Amino acid sequence: MKKKILVTRKLLQQNESRLQQLFEVKFNKEDKIYSKEELLELSDGCDGILSTIVDQFDVDTINKLSSSIKIIANYAVGFGNINLDAARKKNIAVTNTPEVLSEATADISILLLLGASRRAYEGRNWVEQQDWKWQATAFLGRQMSGSKLGILGMGRIGREVAKRARGFNMEIHYYNRSRLKPDLELGSIYHKDIKSLFSISDFLSINCPANKDTVHLINKDTLKYFPKHAVIANAARGDIIKDDDMIEALKNKKIFALGLDVYNGEPKIYPEYLKLKNVFILPHLGSATEKTRVAMGDRAIDNLKVFFEKGKPKDLLN
Ligand code: GLV
Repeated sequence: MKKKILVTRKLLQQNESRLQQLFEVKFNKEDKIYSKEELLELSDGCDGILSTIVDQFDVDTINKLSSSIKIIANYAVGFGNINLDAARKKNIAVTNTPEVLSEATADISILLLLGASRRAYEGRNWVEQQDWKWQATAFLGRQMSGSKLGILGMGRIGREVAKRARGFNMEIHYYNRSRLKPDLELGSIYHKDIKSLFSISDFLSINCPANKDTVHLINKDTLKYFPKHAVIANAARGDIIKDDDMIEALKNKKIFALGLDVYNGEPKIYPEYLKLKNVFILPHLGSATEKTRVAMGDRAIDNLKVFFEKGKPKDLLN
């Protein structure tokens, strides 16, 4: 008998077809974001859930899940939307989709750094007004090439950012919980603490997971460490930045510009960001290429398949 799976959001056709071959599937044709109540109701009697980052599996929701649910396969590398402890206590396996989205997300980190530092948003606005002219003195940005790049979180995505930044002839520095081996470090300079990293970061790329150690890591106090006119890009999670403090730093040009793909309380955005010209924003699309989204779907499906066939999927988190 095929296992029953709730797929909480619409996926690419290729992934949905494979799911249908392997499982009895409840799809979300309208691609609606389900409330906690709907998640509970729709997953009732299912064996597993293929979830996305918009689905909140907090302690209460997990405790109320039907006892038939044995696995939540998250279609994301991040898993802040799922309380792993509560899942473990209820004997529910949780998996994510690492590796397959590192390159696409690193591409977006570079786009955020470039878009912010070279004032892409202001430039586009000016062109739209149709009265622009070339000027030697206008739209001066900060130059990535030859500058120092700090990478906060040197996991797979951070290392892909480093690879790209080498092409820009940047000097690469990083902070990570532990120092990488030389074959992964590839000449990047390790900093034991964030003060030391931030104080040399003309550019900073945020690529660490959000957890109790990183929430609001960029705040009034730590923003002081940066060189004047630094550029920051966040393609990781919104809650790593304390928005009020960042706005202040952007207004007084301590931070020259900010690139954001992720937000506190997404899809809401802290309204002040929309008022500032030196903020370059995207709607959380770090992994949004066909190639990557198909690969993420396949990875989540593989996790479900292996779990039901053998018990221990590759990307088990708890
Ligand atoms: C995207 O934000 C992910 O965690 O995959």
